[in-house]
Amino acid sequence: MSRTFYLTTPLYYVNGVPHVGHAYTSVIADAIARYKRLCGLDVVSLTGTDEHGLKIERAAQEQGMEPQQLADTYANSFKQAWEKLGLTFDESIRTTQKKHHKAVADIFTTITNNKFIYLGEYSGLYCVSCEAYVPEGEENCPDCGRPTESMAEESYFFKLSEFQEKLLNFYAENPNFIIPASRMNEIVSFVKGGLRDLSISRTSFRWGIPVPNDSKHIFYVWFDALTGYFSGIDFGQNSKKFEQCWPADVQLIGKDILRFHAVYWPAFLMAANLEPPRHLLVHGWWTVDGEKMSKSRGNTVTVDELLDLAQPDYIKYFLLKEISVGADGNFSYELLMTRVNSDLANDLGNLCNRILKMIDSYFEGKIPEVLETKSGDEELKQFTVETIDLYRANFDNLAINKAINNVWELISTVNKYLVANEPWKLAEEVSQKDRLSTVLYYSAECLRIIAVLLAPVIPDGCSSILKQLGVEKSLDDLRVKDLVWGGTKSASKLGKIEAVYPRLDPKEFFGRVEKSKQQRQSVVQEKMTNESSSEEGKIGIEDFSKVEMLVGKVITAEKIKKSNKLLKVQVDIGAEVRQVVAGIGKEYTPEDLIGRLVVVVTNLKPAKLMGVESDGMIVAANDGDKPVLVNFTEPIKIGSRLK
Ligand code: MSP
Repeated sequence: MSRTFYLTTPLYYVNGVPHVGHAYTSVIADAIARYKRLCGLDVVSLTGTDEHGLKIERAAQEQGMEPQQLADTYANSFKQAWEKLGLTFDESIRTTQKKHHKAVADIFTTITNNKFIYLGEYSGLYCVSCEAYVPEGEENCPDCGRPTESMAEESYFFKLSEFQEKLLNFYAENPNFIIPASRMNEIVSFVKGGLRDLSISRTSFRWGIPVPNDSKHIFYVWFDALTGYFSGIDFGQNSKKFEQCWPADVQLIGKDILRFHAVYWPAFLMAANLEPPRHLLVHGWWTVDGEKMSKSRGNTVTVDELLDLAQPDYIKYFLLKEISVGADGNFSYELLMTRVNSDLANDLGNLCNRILKMIDSYFEGKIPEVLETKSGDEELKQFTVETIDLYRANFDNLAINKAINNVWELISTVNKYLVANEPWKLAEEVSQKDRLSTVLYYSAECLRIIAVLLAPVIPDGCSSILKQLGVEKSLDDLRVKDLVWGGTKSASKLGKIEAVYPRLDPKEFFGRVEKSKQQRQSVVQEKMTNESSSEEGKIGIEDFSKVEMLVGKVITAEKIKKSNKLLKVQVDIGAEVRQVVAGIGKEYTPEDLIGRLVVVVTNLKPAKLMGVESDGMIVAANDGDKPVLVNFTEPIKIGSRLK
């Protein structure tokens, strides 16, 4: 059975519409997949959506939807965006699909059977935006800067600490596992710094996949989502597809999700006796006019907005050409327009028009013959052959922008060849017909090769150029043999000639940009006005969720000496017993309290009251001056969280 080239994008969160950053990951994946097909490989490319977790649950609450409804809405936005951009994926997975749930449960069971899972208690900080555990003492997430939340709950743990040596050996044996190499160094030093076991389940919210045989737990969203790379190719269903595809050849990720993919993911796989992927290709981040994209700034450039400004090839070309894959990039509308007009419209579009129009008018639309060669012809052919080699070497190393630059050097060389040979002048003299025929054959052959080389990057225009040159094959059927010099057949008929890559008209372009900027600003403005008028003094759900309140049962209670009000109370909150000092001693005796259910705020900073440590607070309502404890009228499990 032949091996398949398996390539994945990350699974996108479904809390908003796709923007230029998401498009970048998918555009790179599409270009690599097309290139590998050109090289004759069987390619399977996968994309998908990451639909569980606290971030999605909260986004749904904020938007007044059920999590599933939110997931359906945005999963569809991503699907449509890729279709509109002309990105083709062979497989797609949503983490709310049944086959995905099964794959997650299967992997967990295998890892449990291999003795890498245990039940424990997690207490520490968490960043909901990154869905990541954060080191102690970090009030703000070190990655995204947003405020962290503390959590304390029973959790299944993965024995990540046992994988430090194995991971370091794996990195040493596979020095190209992470591309670019600078990212590998970052990960090696992170792992050398020591690994702590990883909490892989949560009990304090419900939007996730239940842990087999213990459904009060749901899986940590990264354990769930990473498995999507498997479930998408039918893992665990005696799947030939899985056998052919795994290990993945290239997994594309942005730099923000490197640790999850370079540390957790190979460790999970090793624990399940599976091979880690061959390469992680880590790309940089796009800012917009120098700033990070954010809803509150209103500067998020969505895929729909981009498509309103420019055709898919323009967007793809800009994203792939502008930066090398590992580097960060700045999106600017000016730059987009300049790139398109100078490279696609001027260089490539004009070259194409010139050659095709001359063949059309001087040779009645038929490819001419090589009849009279001169110095310069062989050099052009040689340069073309060398360009193909350089382009392939660069693309093989996933240096897509360098491969594009190689083709642009060829475009400029063909332009120079035309200027040097002046076919428009040769056409004026009958005696020069043979020379004219030769010059236009060489130019047309170069143009054909340029279109084949650029087809993985800007497929729509290249498909049109090839059709105009009379090539009947579809892009999917192109192979490296189509890059051999001489593929253009003399006397074959050109297709219908049409301009490719028209210029973007600055006035119209910036008119649209202004309109969409204004629309975005008015959304931000409206949101701010709504918030300040109708929500003055109110807090968001994310603020409320910061307070962790659990149901507990009082085990012991005693009066604190010299105080007529304070009681020292030990409360069982499910995962542990907490000592809390409560100012309810006038209204409640210790005997009233023992065995009683109470609500405890468990993530307050500990304090000392009359010299006694208090790690939490018992919740009571104040009736005048008198505290009244909260009561439940229905049975409730100890450790349940109030929301
Ligand atoms: N759901 C996780 C991935 C789970 S994979 C098992 C996630 N989703 S995401 O929607 O936030 O990001 C998806 C991809 O988009 C990531 O590779 C991320 O780096 C990329 N980008 C999101 N914003 C970006 C920019 N501004 N610029 C470039 N890429 C960015 O992370």
